[in-house]
Amino acid sequence: MIIYKNSLKSFNTFGLDVTALKIIKITNINELYYIWEKYCQKSIPYIILGNGSNVLFLNHFRGIVIINRLKGIYINETQNHWNLHVNSGENWHQLVKYTIKKGIFGLENLALIPGCVGSASIQNIGAYGVSLQNFCKYVDIMNLLNKKITRLSCIECNFQYRNSIFKNFYMHNYIIIALGITISKKWKPNISYKDLNHLNLYTITPHEIFSYICTIRKKKIPNPKIYGNAGSFFKNPLVSNKLGIQLLKTFPNMPYILKNNIFKISAAWLIDQCNLKRYIKGGAMIYSKHSLIIINKCKAKSKDILYIAIKIYNCVGNKFGIWLEPEVRLIGSLGEVHPSSIFFHNH
Ligand code: FAD
Ligand code: EPU
Repeated sequence: MIIYKNSLKSFNTFGLDVTALKIIKITNINELYYIWEKYCQKSIPYIILGNGSNVLFLNHFRGIVIINRLKGIYINETQNHWNLHVNSGENWHQLVKYTIKKGIFGLENLALIPGCVGSASIQNIGAYGVSLQNFCKYVDIMNLLNKKITRLSCIECNFQYRNSIFKNFYMHNYIIIALGITISKKWKPNISYKDLNHLNLYTITPHEIFSYICTIRKKKIPNPKIYGNAGSFFKNPLVSNKLGIQLLKTFPNMPYILKNNIFKISAAWLIDQCNLKRYIKGGAMIYSKHSLIIINKCKAKSKDILYIAIKIYNCVGNKFGIWLEPEVRLIGSLGEVHPSSIFFHNH
């Protein structure tokens, strides 16, 4: 167990210079029990972090930040599948690289997504036509109140677009400790995503998809070590077939994906229609190469980032009647804050 000084700057990818009462890195479950009993049971606020790549600290945090570094990757195989049991503090991108190196192919479309393996299940990470739910067999969670470990099947996790049961029913007092991942030995490339569908289905290799995805991601998404960010700030909105068709009549170039009669509209495009690309407030800015990403350009404060997020929410909402939902988790001084207390509108 390592206890750090109380600056959270290197524990959130926005690079915000906020503090916590204590920052404690845990590497095994016993350390977690110990901390929980010593601090958290005494009603001191706490939060568990992986790599802090999907959080916005709104203020200094008046509690304990537990950094999850529960490590371990265990692989076994059946005739048709690879089965991985991965502890939740492993790094996601390192796992993708590790599997490919071992000749286990399938996770390549999810390359270069920051964060830990455990957190990946919370918002069902997704990119380039693939999401975690395509591979997740189970998630092991521990109830911190009674130390009971439960295994949830993929169906029980209720995975949806950037959503799962870990964002509601199992949100408080549970820690994700491990994931079961199943990968078919019959590899099939997934090049359905617009940016990939020029690739040759018959000759492309998993290694090529991996490097291609790393290359396009590096072009569009800023490296948090250079410009702090948390990836897409908002989710792409899902709208009814009726509204989607109506919007297309006015904006025939609107980018969208139509699935099960639901339109998923590009939030970046909606933001661009409001002329907000490169919009600046204090040290924060809407990224020039991708409008869904708010960056810490130079010593931004939480309030600068939040100001821009609220500006986007209001502009897009007022122009299109579409009220965006943040993907990034908002952390106040005593714990997570529900987006509705910050982003709201009068109907
Ligand atoms: P954190 O930010 O540390 O935590 C996120 C939330 O989960 C917090 O509420 C935290 O309390 C909770 N939590 C963390 N660990 C646990 C645990 N073990 N048990 C219980 N609760 C826990 N996402 C995508 O889906 N697709 C992308 O393509 C993508 N690209 C990105 C690119 C960049 C540059 C960045 C910065 C982010 C991107 N993201 C993307 C978002 C982010 O990578 C994912 O949400 C990731 O899964 C977050 O992992 P983390 O470990 O950093 O979580
Ligand atoms: N676009 C714009 N303006 C921009 C950027 C993009 O109009 O500034 C339009 C383009 O037409 C483009 C379309 O938006 O074709 C889609 O853009 P992109 O392929 O970058 O994907 P996205 O919908 O913006 C989503 C995820 C990303 C994920 C990519 C790739 C969400 C909220 N975001 O972005 O995930 O990496 O697809 O699959 O679903 C994240 O969640 O943090 C994240 C980065």
